[in-house]
Amino acid sequence: MSDKTATLSIADPNGAIETIELPVYSGTIGPDVVDVGALTAQGMFTYDPGFVSTAACESQITYIDGAQGILLHRGYPIEQLAEHSDYLETCYLLLYGELPTAEQKAEFENTVRYHTMVHDQLTSFFHGFRRDAHPMAILCGVVGALSAFYHDSLDISDEQHREIAAFRLIAKMPTLAAMSYKFSVGQPFMYPDNSLGYAENFLHMMFGTPCEESNVNPVLARAMDRIFLLHADHEQNASTSTVRLTGSSGANPFACIAAGIAALWGPSHGGANEAVLNMLEEIGDVSRIDEFVARAKDKEDPFRLMGFGHRVYKNFDPRAKVMKEAADEVLAELGIENDPLLEIAKRLEQIALEDDYFISKKLYPNVDFYSGIILKAIGIPTSMFTVIFAVGRTVGWIAHWHEMISGSYRIGRPRQLYTGHEQRDYSPLEDR
Ligand code: CMC
Repeated sequence: MSDKTATLSIADPNGAIETIELPVYSGTIGPDVVDVGALTAQGMFTYDPGFVSTAACESQITYIDGAQGILLHRGYPIEQLAEHSDYLETCYLLLYGELPTAEQKAEFENTVRYHTMVHDQLTSFFHGFRRDAHPMAILCGVVGALSAFYHDSLDISDEQHREIAAFRLIAKMPTLAAMSYKFSVGQPFMYPDNSLGYAENFLHMMFGTPCEESNVNPVLARAMDRIFLLHADHEQNASTSTVRLTGSSGANPFACIAAGIAALWGPSHGGANEAVLNMLEEIGDVSRIDEFVARAKDKEDPFRLMGFGHRVYKNFDPRAKVMKEAADEVLAELGIENDPLLEIAKRLEQIALEDDYFISKKLYPNVDFYSGIILKAIGIPTSMFTVIFAVGRTVGWIAHWHEMISGSYRIGRPRQLYTGHEQRDYSPLEDR
């Protein structure tokens, strides 16, 4: 915080000027913020559609510098975490603010491991869905339904309840995600194997069957872990803000995370990884790339190159750099560097990076461009891509929800610029 102030001058049509003094706060790093709270008393609101210039909360979890391409979790650069840490250690960091000691790490992993199973009755929920239901539709439903199963972790004012809910959500998300896939292909659900690591266990539940031992390739398990890690948190994005807003009304944590999953689903956010693969399939051949790039540039055409651009990053997305390396590793391990879709992806990336339109608008490939390529190579069906994003992001949602609930907060209640009718009288049906 600082002792700076900003002065807002408002001129009326007669030229009379009123000034309002507004406090300015400074964070540890990043832009200062102007506290506009005093404006309401002056009968005025700020107007910022899409929250482009609005800080909705104070937070100590994640910092992004979009111009420099910097992403820090609790101060640690994402590149260092991706290289030296793993998903569960990063979960600990996001939740508790510091890297764990060896003992804390082992205890944390153990607690997650022993919450991986879901209530057996939850399996009947799946059977209420059609086989062709999108796994994100299933995930929204079953995660919301967790609040009907775990009544002993719903009291949000109780620190211990909040912690158990956090463990349950982090541990059960891979199980529920894999179940939504197994249901769609008509295979039996796999129980988690608690001798396995987090990502390994997920791949075991996805691809194992009760008839055969699943031998998870360690290179693929490492890549999966990195995908979870790179998606773990991203400050106040649409789904995290949704979780905070939902939580601000006092809703239980399972309901809040279900709301976050719904917000993530859209193609402008987490749904982009699925949309990237669908787009590559639609392009179908390198010879058609120019046509699609031209469509993306045409103002009259709503088509956008999926996996390109970001609200905050106006430089390379630092997660995309790591994801690109992971993609290369996985493709080499699986020996599928010559896949036709991958060829389209590589060529598209090259063309977009050299095109004036994309350069001038600072539209770089984002994390979803490369994660889709890795997930496809691992054999994950396209409809599961956003589900995997949701599994990784769960910890970020919980960390932000917990930060809000454990501090002082008010219900989120944005206002509006009203441009509808002025007051008018109801007209009876026969007079209309
Ligand atoms: N292809 C073509 N043009 C684009 C694209 C794109 N992918 N993205 C933005 N533009 C243009 C847009 O038409 C606009 O042009 P103009 O200034 O002439 O009107 C300009 O760039 C700015 O775009 P915007 O929509 O105002 O930017 P935004 O910050 O509101 O949207 C975005 C950001 C990510 C929604 C957008 O870039 C987009 O739709 N990208 C494709 C979807 C995607 O890959 N989303 C995943 C984001 S990363 C994962 C996550 O964090 O969720």
